[in-house]
Amino acid sequence: MLKKLGLAALLAAACSPALAAECSVDIAGNDQMQFDKKEITVSKRCKQFTVNLTHPGKLAKNVMGHNWVLTRQADLQGVATDGMAAGLDNDYVKKGDARVIAHTKVIGGGESDSVTFDVSKLAAGQDYAYFCSFPGHFAVMKGVLKLAD
Ligand code: CO
Repeated sequence: MLKKLGLAALLAAACSPALAAECSVDIAGNDQMQFDKKEITVSKRCKQFTVNLTHPGKLAKNVMGHNWVLTRQADLQGVATDGMAAGLDNDYVKKGDARVIAHTKVIGGGESDSVTFDVSKLAAGQDYAYFCSFPGHFAVMKGVLKLAD
């Protein structure tokens, strides 16, 4: 009986519009130093959001490395500058940088990494930016992340 109820609840949940929000996104960074997305929308209905980063290229991470770093728009430049100094061993992110909301590790061609963060860290009406903090990449490899209903 309990098992039956559990299954029914599961089915109901799967069909519920409240849980139908897409709470993850796939994004790729290639050998041409490009992300394949310029904008990511996060639904407020998601408790957590996952970013799956892939690198479909062939170049190694010390040559054409990519990560995915999320900050407030206003913090992008500072986080990128400090990240550059932090070096590849730290995934080009300053250790303990409170301005960084989430970040993946730096990956090279054929590799992938994912990061999951709490959507409660995002505020409505605030502009967020994501970018690759590999030295010199953020000017091109960046996009806008928005919180939406
Ligand atoms: Co990059």
